[in-house]
Amino acid sequence: MITLTVNGSVIDLAAPDDKPLLWALREDLGILGAKYGCGVAQCGACRVLVDGRSSPSCAISLGEVAGASVITAEGLAGADGALSVVQRAWIDEQVPQCGFCQPGFLVAATALLARVPSPTDADIDEAITNICRCGTYPRIRRAIHRASAMLAEG
Ligand code: FES
Ligand code: FES
Repeated sequence: MITLTVNGSVIDLAAPDDKPLLWALREDLGILGAKYGCGVAQCGACRVLVDGRSSPSCAISLGEVAGASVITAEGLAGADGALSVVQRAWIDEQVPQCGFCQPGFLVAATALLARVPSPTDADIDEAITNICRCGTYPRIRRAIHRASAMLAEG
């Protein structure tokens, strides 16, 4: 039995220690925001926050997150359903195309802005290594700058 917190709820999971977190989220918990892309920690489609750090859930075992707080794209909104600043900026900039990669980008951008509230383009390039086959990168960059400005305004 592994205990962890997912999107604010404490969960006891009867699953093997070596099961990838991504599979546990999708199969055991029915939380489908994090996507399977490459399976080898390269594309970012599966990214979630683990104790605040943007992390590839395909390459992290359940055993490694025992006792940790995991937040998926679904958990970025407030308990009252209010969208986060990053989510609102994504809508304002009409970022998604097919949408498959976007939960991972939202997570990565959230982690970046928590660490670097006013990121430069270079900061974004260094921190956001996710892959988008639709090529939404220019809109993602604009959305991150917009979210940064919204955060600065309070
Ligand atoms: S599926 Fe995890 S990084 Fe690609
Ligand atoms: S929006 Fe289609 S892969 Fe990124």
